[in-house]
Amino acid sequence: MAVQISIIGHLTIDEIIVEKGVKKIAMGGVPTYSGFAAKRQQAAVLIVSKVGEDFPDSFLLTLARNGIDISFVTLSSRPTTRFRHIYEGGTRTSFLISKCQDILYSDIPEKCRDSDIIHFGPVAGEISSDIVNKLKNPSSLLSIDIQGLIRSVDEDLRVKLVPRDDIADFIKPVDVVHANLEEACIATGMSNAVDATKTLLKMGARVSLVTMGEKGALIASKKGIFHVPAFKTRALDPTGAGDVFTISFMIEYLNTGDEIQAAAYASAAASFSVEEYGPSGFAGRDKISERVAQIINKVQEVDL
Ligand SMILES: Nc1ncnc2c1ncn2[C@@H]1O[C@H](COP(=O)(O)OP(=O)(O)OP(=O)(O)O)[C@@H](O)[C@H]1O
Ligand SMILES: [Mg+2]
Repeated sequence: MAVQISIIGHLTIDEIIVEKGVKKIAMGGVPTYSGFAAKRQQAAVLIVSKVGEDFPDSFLLTLARNGIDISFVTLSSRPTTRFRHIYEGGTRTSFLISKCQDILYSDIPEKCRDSDIIHFGPVAGEISSDIVNKLKNPSSLLSIDIQGLIRSVDEDLRVKLVPRDDIADFIKPVDVVHANLEEACIATGMSNAVDATKTLLKMGARVSLVTMGEKGALIASKKGIFHVPAFKTRALDPTGAGDVFTISFMIEYLNTGDEIQAAAYASAAASFSVEEYGPSGFAGRDKISERVAQIINKVQEVDL
């Protein structure tokens, strides 16, 4: 039977500006990137989200046509969560243009609890730790991407990362936590990748994943800390790479129980998504496996 996955977080409208003056509008948010990636890997995907009247019907149609369950995407009186991402010289500056209503425990369908994997993907603080705690159950693997929990905006709507005191409340109930390097350092107060990865693990997850774009990822578990390289490729748009990485990790971790294999698989899966703009370029298991073979033997334990 297909792996059942629920993804909880805002669907977004992303304005992606890669070169000056060239603006692309794409559907975004964790449910989009993680959802399409999981679907291409033969999982059954359910999204729990909220969008506004401005969310294009064509986006919903694209999700539905791809076989993603959108029955629990509800319409809000507030506009959709909208980001503007500007990529320049290897860095991304993001602006949060609008934010939809929070997702409440009462929005979560009972069906979600039966999932093999429940992935929390907040992008703008739309989920409380209460929801994560209440959905913890013995038959689901839980994961969270903390990126959207530590975002705040300044007067010109520019997104900046700020630590929050209750971050461990979100991490303690889950099996797997993901952040990119900058997020991990801000969330933990650490100044380097190894310490940040270790600290996230100590907050209570079984596995912590800290991704570093083309420099690959660190993974920590009771087995130790390991570096997993990225697959060398031509990157056009890195948006969503972390989302593809994390959900692919979860699928392979559920299948094999082996976090090193799962991280190599995740790295391979994410490399496909950076090769194309927006939510496209997702690969199936066969194509991913070819790249895993080139990554797995380069995984190295980090000397402490
Ligand atoms: N340029 C690249 N080439 C190959 N693989 C990449 C590249 N950028 C990212 N990846 C893969 O994707 C993973 C996650 O990327 P990254 O660290 O950029 O996540 P992120 O910042 O959370 O992304 P997002 O928030 O946009 O989803 C990396 O660990 C790597 O395996
Ligand atoms: Mg991310």
